[in-house]
Amino acid sequence: MQIFLDSTDTKVIADLASTGLVDGVTTNPTLIAKAGRPMLEVIAEICDLVPGPISAEVAATTADAMIAEGQKLAGIAPNVVVKIPLTRDGLIACAAFANEGISTNVTLCFSPTQALLAAKAGATFVSPFIGRLDDYGFDGMDLIRDIRTIYDNFGYETEILAASVRNVAHVKDAAIVGADVVTIPPAVFGDLFKHPLTDKGLDQFLKDWAGTGQSIL
Ligand code: G3P
Repeated sequence: MQIFLDSTDTKVIADLASTGLVDGVTTNPTLIAKAGRPMLEVIAEICDLVPGPISAEVAATTADAMIAEGQKLAGIAPNVVVKIPLTRDGLIACAAFANEGISTNVTLCFSPTQALLAAKAGATFVSPFIGRLDDYGFDGMDLIRDIRTIYDNFGYETEILAASVRNVAHVKDAAIVGADVVTIPPAVFGDLFKHPLTDKGLDQFLKDWAGTGQSIL
């Protein structure tokens, strides 16, 4: 499974990318607002930091304007993925980008039929929002399962990019149900490798090794 960071904090992205475990980055208008910097500058910097897919979201709501904005965003760097909302106009723009060979990430997906249409429109990625469904008492993972079934039934190549991830359990469950990608806040990334028994076990290994008086080098 690919792991993307959901962030525009370039310092944090650079730090976590140094692990070699970051496969891409997703952004959205809210994250761009948090960056407090010009969007095109932030996206260009992230594209230099991480060679994988970098999602940059349009702000327009009509197909023609989305296409114009997306073409500009795609021109920033070869690894830019144009992010578009899952609306009627967004699906029209998605199909236009697919015809131009521009990669797309269709976002704000909350139902299986929305995901079905994103695949039919030629989306590279579709972003079902797990956490926001959970917030309303639904099981966001059910959506991932349904999309996986639909895409496998018809051989759609659109990749399921699990988004709105809030914790390690979301990452685990998304991997089990077969999401292709998970995009996670930096804080969740840090939690993925932490376990108290690992720390406890290493402490004991180091104490026992120290007692041998040996050195390996
Ligand atoms: O990529 C989508 C993600 O940023 C949304 O997360 O926590 O605002 O639902 P959240």
